[in-house]
Amino acid sequence: MVSLKEIKAPIAEDFKAFRKIFRETVRSKVPLLDLIMRYILKTKGKQMRPMFVMYSAGILGNINEATYRAATMIELMHTATLVHDDVVDDSFQRRGRFSINYLWKNKIAVLAGDFLLSRGMLLALENKDYHLLEIISKAVKDMSEGELLQLEKARKLDISEEVYYEIIRKKTASLLASSMATGAASVTDDEEQVKKMHSIGENAGMAFQIKDDLFDLQAGNDSGKPTGVDIKEKKMTLPLIYLLQQSSRSEKRKIINIVKNDNENPEKVNWLIQQIKQSGGFDYSIKKMQEFNNRAIEILDSLPDNIYRQNMKKLINYNIERKK
Ligand code: IPE
Ligand code: IPE
Ligand code: MG
Ligand code: MG
Repeated sequence: MVSLKEIKAPIAEDFKAFRKIFRETVRSKVPLLDLIMRYILKTKGKQMRPMFVMYSAGILGNINEATYRAATMIELMHTATLVHDDVVDDSFQRRGRFSINYLWKNKIAVLAGDFLLSRGMLLALENKDYHLLEIISKAVKDMSEGELLQLEKARKLDISEEVYYEIIRKKTASLLASSMATGAASVTDDEEQVKKMHSIGENAGMAFQIKDDLFDLQAGNDSGKPTGVDIKEKKMTLPLIYLLQQSSRSEKRKIINIVKNDNENPEKVNWLIQQIKQSGGFDYSIKKMQEFNNRAIEILDSLPDNIYRQNMKKLINYNIERKK
């Protein structure tokens, strides 16, 4: 498998420019905030979204300062939502380290996330990047709705496959879509092209979240995040939804009962994961993930071919093979 570093090679210099803006933007004179921001800067994550921004720009035009700002805004929004998401999911680990909420508690994590979010918006305003801000703000709205819809479904435990897709489209695919759309908008005014890029990102984003949800059910993976959080938080993801579809009424009751009342009992949860496996829930999810990815690649193939398009393709394929 190609590594992210190899895929990143053609934009290595651009990445330095983006990192510089990112570092400068998160500075604060408030000591506690500055401490938290330093902690965040130390653990970068995969930074796949900024890569999507740059490739999308490079396919359609010349990567420029607005592209770097778009990449920065996107990564800021992404980081903000991760900080908030770990509060919402009550998760103690992120990127192989303790999460912000674990170290500083929820109150501080919520405010640190707000800071990141507002820094992203201000960066756009300071540079009059209104179009970029519009695209990104829509994604932020979608992300909040997606996370809330997910919480609602975790209470009612009545999620369907369709609603699952709606949730992941909003909470995850929207930001990948806007990564590609802002990259495009940083080099062209052609709305058709921006839309096309948006749609590539959306499909790739759907695949991305299905992959993430598969990780959560695989103990001992390399993601730097705890596993089993989804069941513990009563989040029913595609493999489990598929199992439910295949189950009789009494089996369904048993499964829902584990999700509801025994979601922290390792034996019961393991039993559930075995059932998912036997039902073909993992295979089905992998198939769906590949379908979304193929759709992304199909649209990508209709765009002008250059080194950026080639590497974008590698990045999209990397997503479904990645080990973290
Ligand atoms: C995690 O995204 C959140 C999801 C949408 C699944 P990433 O896996 O891109 O997180 P980092 O930035 O690399 O840590
Ligand atoms: C994606 O959902 C989170 C966001 C859209 C912020 P998850 O809750 O599955 O993400 P991880 O697994 O915590 O990164
Ligand atoms: Mg989470
Ligand atoms: Mg997850």
